[in-house]
Amino acid sequence: TELDFSLEKIEKGGFEHFMLKEIFEQPSVMHDVMRGRVRLEEGRVCLGGIEDYLDRLKQAKRIVICACGTSWHAGLIGEYLIEEFARIPVEVDYASEFRYRNPIVGKDDVVIVISQSGETADTLAALRTAKEKGALVMGICNVVGSTIARETLCGMYTHAGPEVGVASTKAFTAQVIMLYMLAMALSKGRTISHDEIILNLTELADLPAKADRILNLDGQIRDIAERFKDAKNFLYLGRGYNFPVALEGALKLKEISYIHAEGYPAAEMKHGPIALIDEDMPVIFIATRDSTYAKILSNIEEVRSRKGRVIAIASEGDKEVARLAEHVIYIPQASGPITPLLTVIPLQLLAYHIATLRGCNVDRPRNLAKSVTVE
Ligand code: G6P
Repeated sequence: TELDFSLEKIEKGGFEHFMLKEIFEQPSVMHDVMRGRVRLEEGRVCLGGIEDYLDRLKQAKRIVICACGTSWHAGLIGEYLIEEFARIPVEVDYASEFRYRNPIVGKDDVVIVISQSGETADTLAALRTAKEKGALVMGICNVVGSTIARETLCGMYTHAGPEVGVASTKAFTAQVIMLYMLAMALSKGRTISHDEIILNLTELADLPAKADRILNLDGQIRDIAERFKDAKNFLYLGRGYNFPVALEGALKLKEISYIHAEGYPAAEMKHGPIALIDEDMPVIFIATRDSTYAKILSNIEEVRSRKGRVIAIASEGDKEVARLAEHVIYIPQASGPITPLLTVIPLQLLAYHIATLRGCNVDRPRNLAKSVTVE
């Protein structure tokens, strides 16, 4: 047999696809994002790129987050984080909607644009609109020196390294960690105590080890993918911090496997999607132990009583969920605001395996581009 020394093979570092490599890089990316920024001993985060503007950021009357695709999902988690900890009102808008609706935004507002590539046309246009209207514009980008990074007044790089797979994975977790750190920086000395900051930063620092443990479940997740790969539709449900993860899980599946999938806030199920549930409908529940846990259990019962097939992402040690779900993927214990960074990983892997089992080209899915520089 011939040895394949092609550049691409070397770049994939022994993985079958870039996407899988990038999913598995997440624990080390998490370290890279936090390196030098999470200062546990000092009980603070140090965000060089926004330091000079931090006081103005803290005084914002409102924060508007604009992004597209997966970055928009990170923005939704950012909304929950910043509102919970820093108590500043946050709105999240699709960049493409923001730019065309003559948005009400001015000098008391902060507009945060989030973009992996830093080149997305709609996000760039949203940033220019916000700037024209006098808002302080901040960026969260992965690609260093990208247009969005250059045009924002201040910002932070995610340091996730190059992302090749069209479906975003490691860039997403990096964006959410950035938003978590930003929420801490905006809260410090204002809305949460020093002890609480220490507690939250400790949890953040524990994250890479927990993510690593989830990656060990790859075999189990592949087995689940085998069973469900021929489904025509999937429903993803989550609440609170895991509602955006439900959207992101559904997006991953759509993008690379071409299976129709919808993400929904679990409580909204009864206002529509419940009509779709029958014995052919796999429903993925994110049911970790946090403030909405009891509610989500009753949502699972509702799906079960209509014969839906339930796959649950649950907290380690949870036996109640196992009683209700056909399959349970256990993730390490974590507090609510941290969980999206863990629960998204099994959903990335599930989408990956379903797509590869169906013979799809996961790194270059049809009709999609890594960076959308035209409208
Ligand atoms: C494209 C990519 C997505 C990405 C979105 C936003 O649709 O396929 O993976 O989430 O653009 O890209 P950005 O680079 O602005 O984060």
